[in-house]
Amino acid sequence: MSDRDEIAEQRRKNLKLIHFNHDDQSLVESEKPKETFADVGGLEDVKKKIRMNFILPLEQPEVFAAYGKHAGGSLLLFGPPGCGKTFLARAVAGEIDANFLHIELQAILSMYSGQSEHNLHDIFEKARQSKPCVIFIDELDAMGGSRHQMRQHHDRMLVNQLLLELDGLQAENDKVFVIGATNTPWYLDSALRRPGRFNHLVFVPPPEEAERETILGLKLAGKPANGLNLSKIAADTRLFSGADLDQVVKDAVESAMERTFETGIIQPITMDDLKKAVKSRKPTTLEWFSTARNYATFSDVNQDYQIVLDYAKKHSLK
Ligand SMILES: Nc1ncnc2c1ncn2[C@@H]1O[C@H](COP(=O)(O)OP(=O)(O)OP(=O)(O)O)[C@@H](O)[C@H]1O
Ligand SMILES: [Mg+2]
Repeated sequence: MSDRDEIAEQRRKNLKLIHFNHDDQSLVESEKPKETFADVGGLEDVKKKIRMNFILPLEQPEVFAAYGKHAGGSLLLFGPPGCGKTFLARAVAGEIDANFLHIELQAILSMYSGQSEHNLHDIFEKARQSKPCVIFIDELDAMGGSRHQMRQHHDRMLVNQLLLELDGLQAENDKVFVIGATNTPWYLDSALRRPGRFNHLVFVPPPEEAERETILGLKLAGKPANGLNLSKIAADTRLFSGADLDQVVKDAVESAMERTFETGIIQPITMDDLKKAVKSRKPTTLEWFSTARNYATFSDVNQDYQIVLDYAKKHSLK
């Protein structure tokens, strides 16, 4: 079983357990994550967009009202795996004084067929009752495939329900914000991409060199280390995602801990540990770029993915 399957399996198990409790939290984590933007390395453009669309409208509603704009709306984060979409969305919750509902569609879909729409409706209902509120719908890839690809009738029903809920928000629900995340926005049902729904796409790219240095610093903070030159490691990790960098640090920690157990004295993480870790890893973003560039080149009627092509060109991706 792959890691991903195992995680999915684990989630299903957890869900069943919770279901027996008849706990209405079963489908949603209702929580206040402790991460803030400061924990997210780089991604300044994305943070700025989020500030403009989500944070300022809540902090200074009068400015938005003056321009006839209501506070509310949706953003769709997309990009290669491991570059911080989920992490960033969680940080939004830590950043603003609002409720945060984290929906994992996989979880909703894996519940009983026919129930998913009701569950989704309940979640939006709950959001309306707890305004201001951010609803984060992660792994949108799990649903909303284009109509003819829809595997099952009940997937279709769920998409329809989501459309209804999103339209409802636009009509009457100030102060409910929706963030979606997906690796494959091009597979999303085009109805989900119309104005007022997820029409605002935000690319979450792999970190640039300086951002990689920041992320490495964040991941190493508070750990025993000696003589690290993180800019050197950042330079050697082109196209590594945040998750790849996290893994590099974990590998390095492992080596230092092994030495610690051997010697009985706490051993600092060294440049050698990091270099060795980098050598044994490859960036996991490359495959995504080759798929994304295909879509961007051949079927991007709205030029949504020009930003991906620009990124690929800048980084001479083949
Ligand atoms: N910019 C970043 N700053 C700090 N840590 C990051 C950053 N990007 C990614 N990470 C680390 O990588 C992990 C995975 O990131 P995350 O789950 O947000 O990726 P994702 O874009 O949602 O990926 P997927 O598309 O696979 O869902 C995070 O938990 C975090 O530790
Ligand atoms: Mg994610």
